[in-house]
Amino acid sequence: MSINKVGVIGAGQMGNGIAHVLALAGYDVILNDIDRGALDDALTLIESNLARQVSREKITSDQAEQALNRITTTLKLSDLGKTDLVIEAATEKEAVKAAIFEDLVPHLEPHTILTSNTSSISITRLASRTDRPEKFMGFHFMNPVPVMQLVELIRGIATDEATYQALKDVVDRLGKTSATAEDFPAFIVNRILMPMINEAVYTLYEGVGSVASIDSAMKLGTNHPMGPFELADFIGLDTCLAIMNVLHDGLADTKYRPCPLLTKYVEAGWLGRKTDRGFYDYREDPPVPTR
Ligand code: CAA
Repeated sequence: MSINKVGVIGAGQMGNGIAHVLALAGYDVILNDIDRGALDDALTLIESNLARQVSREKITSDQAEQALNRITTTLKLSDLGKTDLVIEAATEKEAVKAAIFEDLVPHLEPHTILTSNTSSISITRLASRTDRPEKFMGFHFMNPVPVMQLVELIRGIATDEATYQALKDVVDRLGKTSATAEDFPAFIVNRILMPMINEAVYTLYEGVGSVASIDSAMKLGTNHPMGPFELADFIGLDTCLAIMNVLHDGLADTKYRPCPLLTKYVEAGWLGRKTDRGFYDYREDPPVPTR
């Protein structure tokens, strides 16, 4: 199964990173979003992230230019009809993803592989909303996509071997490493990472430490590049809460109970870096802890 042209749905944090690495690896990419402004912003960000890689001598300016030329954008899902692979990286809401698949599927060629970059939603359930569960998989990139080595590959119950192999080959061509996970809530990375972040919020909630002391303890005490609050703000607190809810609902174990303080931050609209405020206030430089 030869993959040359790839459609990416969603030009946000994950979608633009995925388009970036695919184009750099020589794939023709068509990036789709419902918002023209989001597409323009994504292209600007990809250009500056490519320039950053040129300045650090990771790639040449020719490679950066060619990568940018391989990316086209569209507001129409139907323009993704002629692709060999589609990666859905829209917002982490099951109803949104299901509606996208419903609109997209009638336009697709029979051979097109369909994937979701979901960080926690059941692949088997998403696949069942399409006409091709055997050609459907979870294809989970980590943020920031151009830097992180890992891609999780998640087979649904019906996924066939050819689809799995084709995606494994794409990961190899990207120069990244795959880890295969079974289709259970939050797969591997988020099954382990989110309870750690949630526990950090409980540690704060119970007054064991402040945002700064907990982050510094975990950074210096366990050699994590970011403390749990820095990382939660980077991922987005709404995403962290959504994943905790998937774990809590899907595994029905109280150990996954989202911390009420995490819920409160999300209710306040303090979602992390993307809203300029989360566990840190990013309107100040350097950012100031909010507790
Ligand atoms: N595009 C291209 N390159 C980028 C980049 C981007 N968006 N962001 C950073 N870089 C590059 C920099 O150019 C730099 O390259 P060199 O090593 O060649 O110099 C390198 O990454 C490090 O960047 P910085 O020096 O600017 O910053 P840093 O040293 O503080 O590292 C970081 C930043 C890579 C984000 C690091 O803090 C880190 O690894 N943090 C943890 C990230 C993490 O855990 N991600 C997973 C989140 S979980 C997830 O994504 C799953 C989910 O479903 C929620």
